[in-house]
Amino acid sequence: MPSPILDAIQQRRSIREYTDEEVRPDELREIIRAGIWAPSGLNNQPWRFVIIRDAAVRRRLAEQTHYGHIVLAAPALIAVYLDPAAMYNEVKDHQAAGACIQNMLLATEALGLGAVWLGQILQNAAAVTAILELPEALELMAVLAVGHPQHRRQTSQRKNLAEFVLKEL
Ligand SMILES: Cc1cc2nc3c(=O)[nH]c(=O)nc-3n(C[C@H](O)[C@H](O)[C@H](O)COP(=O)(O)O)c2cc1C
Repeated sequence: MPSPILDAIQQRRSIREYTDEEVRPDELREIIRAGIWAPSGLNNQPWRFVIIRDAAVRRRLAEQTHYGHIVLAAPALIAVYLDPAAMYNEVKDHQAAGACIQNMLLATEALGLGAVWLGQILQNAAAVTAILELPEALELMAVLAVGHPQHRRQTSQRKNLAEFVLKEL
């Protein structure tokens, strides 16, 4: 049966090249809204977000990752954090953050935008948190670079499903 959700899951690609067109604040809020509708253990909703459109802040963040060129190219960034005050289980809260971020990526697609999950920047998480003037206790999960895709020619591969299924009992 055709399903727009299954199509979006499979057709979503990491988008790293953007046009100069701005991403509107309401679009960024829509992306975050999708994130907060992710499941979380005990429904504790431990995620927190920073919306970054300011060019000077983006320039400073770009210095914190090997993927600075993507940070500079993207008209908007969303930093995703976990708030330890809301957390209850290390593993489950991190899993919830992953679900949240994937929802955000899919929402980006649905809005006709493109995004990439930037994880390498976590190696400078403390510096990112300082640049964003946030409490040190917050735990950076990812920065999403968001923009209007310059093109949709991205391809990606997955191994065969059979390689991942350990057993079928
Ligand atoms: C935890 C995580 C960290 C990632 N970090 C980066 C990153 O720092 N820079 C980048 O360009 N892509 C990053 N990616 C995107 C992956 O490279 C990408 O998802 C993968 O190559 C598959 O491509 P696709 O998203 O188009 O299917 C990250 C993805 C995940 C899930």
